[in-house]
Amino acid sequence: MTEDEQKLAAAKAAVEHIKDGMVVGLGTGSTAAKMVDLVGERVKNGLDIIAVPTSEATARQAEALGIRVVGLDEVSVIDLTIDGTDEVDPEKRLIKGGGGAHLREKIVASLSDRMIVIAENKKMVGKLGAFKLPVEVIPFAAGALLPKMEALGSTPEIRMKDGQPFLTDEGNQIIDCAFGEIDDPEELALTLSTTPGVVEHGLFIDYADLVLIGTDDGVKTFG
Ligand code: 5RP
Repeated sequence: MTEDEQKLAAAKAAVEHIKDGMVVGLGTGSTAAKMVDLVGERVKNGLDIIAVPTSEATARQAEALGIRVVGLDEVSVIDLTIDGTDEVDPEKRLIKGGGGAHLREKIVASLSDRMIVIAENKKMVGKLGAFKLPVEVIPFAAGALLPKMEALGSTPEIRMKDGQPFLTDEGNQIIDCAFGEIDDPEELALTLSTTPGVVEHGLFIDYADLVLIGTDDGVKTFG
């Protein structure tokens, strides 16, 4: 199976958890985009749901597919969120934010009854940290936070796009922090969350309820 086929297999398995009447959080990224396409197909075939997208890109995709999209303030509960990941470890801890959407993704996930994470096989790791940890920061503080991120043991760099700092949907910048293996993700998450200027980091701890990994031997489930 190619990585794309693995992503699609995981997305198909996840979409089976969506039932009529649900409010569904829609993740961001290439794996989530496959899931949104599948949700669009099911909506065309009569599935009745409301969706809360985690990025402008996902909102545009969902709307184009005829999925009813609402903002967070229009729903009282999110039944299920399905999202991709950049890494997942055996304790279902995640690194997200490769697509720069982890701030809204974490808010939507935190308000969801359940979160299903979908990914291709290579995203499953023994220990988090080979993927650079995205840290969303307010632009005012970006330069000043680089030495702080270095002091935490990473090699940080401001994410760039077309020669300019990449801006998130919320108008913030991202510092990608190369930590290598992260020994204590909980402690790092707490430190980052309490650093002034940091808006949100990509460590998702205690968010994923179910992880679906597409592999050559079918979709592996844990959670
Ligand atoms: C975006 C994310 C994505 O879920 C993550 O980057 C995985 O993306 P892809 O499915 O394209 O590999 O966290 O902020």
